[in-house]
Amino acid sequence: MKRSLLVAGFLVAAPGWMLPAHAQDAEEGKKIFKSICNLCHENIRNKNRVGPSLYGVVGRHSGMIPGFAYSDANKNSGITWTEDVLFQYEEDPQKMVPGTKMTYTGLKDPQKRHDLIAYLKTLHD
Ligand code: HEC
Repeated sequence: MKRSLLVAGFLVAAPGWMLPAHAQDAEEGKKIFKSICNLCHENIRNKNRVGPSLYGVVGRHSGMIPGFAYSDANKNSGITWTEDVLFQYEEDPQKMVPGTKMTYTGLKDPQKRHDLIAYLKTLHD
């Protein structure tokens, strides 16, 4: 009894990103990508600009794009870019990867991050 109360309390207190089934709108995400990420990133495979290609980024290990000069901070971060990880990273990239050369300060609106990830998920074969 006590235990199930604890579990229930945890679920109520859990932050939004821990709960599945958020409405994700890939079309909105595409607009966000074009207006922010696209300043530095391409959505085309292995095409790098200031930042590495984000084609296929969801599920990819950090620092894998050939020909891109990653910072040691990114390359050695040991991160795999799952949806949950991207959701946290996009809020504050420097917090998750201190010393990264991605200077973008972050997307604070959680809905925008959900939409953006929905779009990033479409970038695969
Ligand atoms: C001002 C330029 C800039 C903007 C804007 C920017 N990035 Fe980046 N991003 C970079 C750079 C540079 C790196 C490489 C970081 C390193 O090596 O430390 C990077 C790295 C990344 C990585 C790691 C990729 C890998 O292969 O390990 C992800 C994921 C990422 N960016 C996502 C995004 C998303 C999503 C957006 C839009 C919300 C965004 N970035 C906006 C410059 C930018």
